[in-house]
Amino acid sequence: MRNIILVVAKSNNNIIGNNNKLLWEIKDDLKWFKELTLNKTIVMGRKTYESIGKALPNRKNIVLSTDLNFKPNDVILYENIERLLLENNEDLYIIGGGQIYREFLNYSNKMFITEVDTNIEGDTMFPIINEDFWFKILIKEINKNSNNEYNCKIYNYIKKTNINMKELKNIIKLYPNDYDLGSFIRNKYNYETHIFYCYIKQYPNNYDLGSFIRKLF
Ligand SMILES: NC(=O)c1ccc[n+]([C@@H]2O[C@H](COP(=O)([O-])OP(=O)(O)OC[C@H]3O[C@@H](n4cnc5c(N)ncnc54)[C@H](OP(=O)(O)O)[C@@H]3O)[C@@H](O)[C@H]2O)c1
Repeated sequence: MRNIILVVAKSNNNIIGNNNKLLWEIKDDLKWFKELTLNKTIVMGRKTYESIGKALPNRKNIVLSTDLNFKPNDVILYENIERLLLENNEDLYIIGGGQIYREFLNYSNKMFITEVDTNIEGDTMFPIINEDFWFKILIKEINKNSNNEYNCKIYNYIKKTNINMKELKNIIKLYPNDYDLGSFIRNKYNYETHIFYCYIKQYPNNYDLGSFIRKLF
């Protein structure tokens, strides 16, 4: 199964930008974003591309625009989402902006949301998420310092409908011992496109992985 992954940094009040610019400088979040998307396919709207000003290096850059006169030579252009999805079967990292997040929300099965701890004014928002449909897991904290303007928390969201809950619950019952459960999950789901892959990497110890999965589900 391929993943469609929204990646965003948003304020407490859901603001992501103003005047086609970002509103903060958080170097550790940019570093995290780079590690996450390097050598992957990123998708952005025409306005976000113009705000960045160039393709991001070492990634396949796809830009959506309906403007036939818009022809930058360092990205792949698409005029609509359907064709983009059809012709690019790999994991897609959707990197903004507001309009693009809104349009891809229903296609996505994963999100990485950096919650920037501020309330701020701006003209572009991230859509409101119905948290009932997502598992939300804290994966990283960033402290305010000279590199990072605000405290942040990075969360991974996984859409509930994309996990075969019946199968998973049976597996959890079958392995009452956390170590055995972790070992089973590691062997069964240890491939990059699976939603458990990042937890398998995050918990190198089978006991911790099993205990995490049991608590989560
Ligand atoms: N905080 C973050 O994580 C983050 C990340 C990215 C961006 N941002 C911010 O978000 C803001 C930009 O967001 P935005 O909502 O104004 O613009 P956007 O989503 O970046 O781009 C919108 C443009 O994309 C094209 N587009 C959208 N849907 C399309 C579709 N289905 N088919 C073809 N083309 C489509 C259109 O281009 P045409 O008009 O050319 O047809 C549209 O005008 C900036 O302030 C930026 O800094 C923040």
